[in-house]
Amino acid sequence: MLWVGTSWKMNGTIDFAREYAWRLMAADASQWEGIQAFIIPPATALDAVRGVLGDNGPILLGAQNAHWEDSGAWTGEVSVPQVADAGAQMVEVGHSERRQHFGDSDEVVNLKVRAIIGHGLRPVLCIGEPAEVFEAGRSIEYITAQADSALQGVDPSSVILAYEPIWAIGEHGREPRRSDLVRAFAALGERYSSDVTAVVYGGSVNAGNAADLLTIPGVEGLFVGRAAWRVPGYLEILRIASRSLRA
Ligand code: PGA
Repeated sequence: MLWVGTSWKMNGTIDFAREYAWRLMAADASQWEGIQAFIIPPATALDAVRGVLGDNGPILLGAQNAHWEDSGAWTGEVSVPQVADAGAQMVEVGHSERRQHFGDSDEVVNLKVRAIIGHGLRPVLCIGEPAEVFEAGRSIEYITAQADSALQGVDPSSVILAYEPIWAIGEHGREPRRSDLVRAFAALGERYSSDVTAVVYGGSVNAGNAADLLTIPGVEGLFVGRAAWRVPGYLEILRIASRSLRA
């Protein structure tokens, strides 16, 4: 099975999210046979999207962030039990935007991973190196250190580990060379794939490169941003992923 999901970052109203979920549920799921789909809308839309997807539906629902404490004096934060209450079954953690702009250090990421697993939710744990680390040829030691730190003291079996080179993400991101991804996924596969649920790739994934990415040994799914923020774009990538299983 491949895992193919999308996080919408800070985009979309509740109406938009509900409509997106409706259109996904209305689509013929046989198009993405063999794929575990998951969507990660903003926290404000979780409950509405859960209302459409249902609690045990074929598409999993995730939150983009959650605090490590269950409750307390943490103004502006939401906890794992709170996002679970709103319908989240997964929680994204360690995304480079969180690490860069909100101080989510390796230690904080580990605290969050512990809380997510402790409450029975599934972490989508993002790791990825900055451009200068990549250029210095130290990507693998950097991302394995991130993953080791994030997974310290937990049973990693429910983790979706997403490798997202920072320089490959977003509007100004550039697609990694295949040879670099082959090397990175060989290292990640050897170290983590028997322990975690799946190791996936993220960063400028689109309908044009998805099939190629899925032929890289060790790539067990895709984590998509911009290209899946509209339903047809996401459905296209789901179909490509499903076809790659039969290729
Ligand atoms: P992108 O985002 O697909 O828009 O590059 C990926 C991500 O941030 O996970």
